[in-house]
Parts: sequence; structure tokens; C-alpha cells
Amino acid sequence: MKKHLVAPSVLAADFTRLREEIEMVNQSEADWFHLDVMDGRFVPNITFGMFIIEAINKMAQKPLDVHLMIVEPEKYIESFRKAGAQVITVHLEACPHLHRTVHQIKETGALAGVALNPHTPVSLLEDLIEDIDLVCLMSVNPGFGGQKFIYQTLPKIRKLREIIDTANAKTLIEIDGGVGLQNAESLLQAGADVLVAGSSVFGAKDPRATISALKAFTSVFV
Ligand code: DX5
Ligand code: ZN
Repeated sequence: MKKHLVAPSVLAADFTRLREEIEMVNQSEADWFHLDVMDGRFVPNITFGMFIIEAINKMAQKPLDVHLMIVEPEKYIESFRKAGAQVITVHLEACPHLHRTVHQIKETGALAGVALNPHTPVSLLEDLIEDIDLVCLMSVNPGFGGQKFIYQTLPKIRKLREIIDTANAKTLIEIDGGVGLQNAESLLQAGADVLVAGSSVFGAKDPRATISALKAFTSVFV
């Protein structure tokens, strides 16, 4: 049985102690680092870019899952790959030529991810699903950590699982926003493969133990 992945979102880390926080994830059972790039245009917030990702890559001992919440992401894919991204996720809502952008990501050797905002139906990916390595379902409106999980994400996971299985594709389903110990199990039961967790991990008394607890849940699907 394949185990689900846990990807702590560094956005919720204490950046005055970034090395320690990265080291904590290195030592934990986490699988990936989730890195949120925001441009103040696609989302109403600005975070960090390739410069910080390059620095994190020097300390990180696990793959970097880079979530681009930016307009015109196609302009920066090669740069993020060079900075160390192993998964590059773009938003469907930011890509008028999604097929081209997905293949541009794959040509760099990275895994290609497509993120959907909470209101975007999963059916829009039906014709491209075989080409996509990961679908990131946003379970909050992108832009900020620490928001409340939007419950309508659950039926979206089930629908997406069906689309993936019908196409016989290997696409991973990632859930991003408001994920924690309280909903991890139902997300996995619905068909999730990757859990992104920001504040529930870095805000916990014992972040490493929280990561282990997130890893310990089981799913009937993966
Ligand atoms: C939101 C980001 C998320 C965020 C998750 O726009 O894409 O990755 O950091 O944070 P939590 O887990 O605190 O909701
Ligand atoms: Zn994210």
C-alpha cells in the first residue's frame, strides 16, 4: 500500500529561525517542503521568490514542492527549476495555455502540478489529466496561511479521484489550506495523496510529532 505524503508549508515557519525550522522538517517524517510563491497580483499577498528558494534548497534534504501563485508563471519556470524546485505547480486560473505550460514544466525535469482555486471545478482538468503529475486542490482562497478549511473541497476530491482513476492516470491529489489533525483522515478517505500543512505543523507545540501524527493516518485509496 502506497503511503500518503506530508508537505509542511514553510510559509508558516518562523523566518527568524529558518535554518532550525528547515532542520526540524529534515529530521521529521515529512516527505516534501511546500513553498508558497505569491506575487501580489494573482493573490493579494507577496511572499518570496527563487532567491529564498535557492537558499532553502541548500539546507533542505527533501524535495521542494513549489506552489506558484503568480500571473504569467511560464516566464519563471526555468528559474524556479534552477533554484531547486522538484515539483512546480501553476494555477489553472493563471494559465490560458495550460497544456503548453504543463509541458514546459515537464521539459525541465520537474513534476508538473496544476492548482485549482476553491470555485474552479475539477472537470476542467478532464482532458489534460494524464499529463499532470499533481493536482493541488486549494481548500482555502490562496494568499494566506492559517485560514479555515472550505468543506466543499471534500466532494471535489472524490470527483477528481474518479477522473484520475477513469483515465488510469497516476496524478497525485494534493490538498492545500486549513489541513490538520482534525480533517486529515477524511481527506485521505476521500482520495487525497499529499497533505500540505502550514500553521497546524509550525504552530504546534511539537511540530515533529504533528508531522508524525499526520503521517500515521491511513487511507483506503493510496
Ligand atoms: C495558501 C498557501 C498554503 C498555506 C497553507 O495560499 O498556498 O500553502 O501556506 O497554510 P495553512 O496550512 O496554515 O492553511
Ligand atoms: Zn500552497
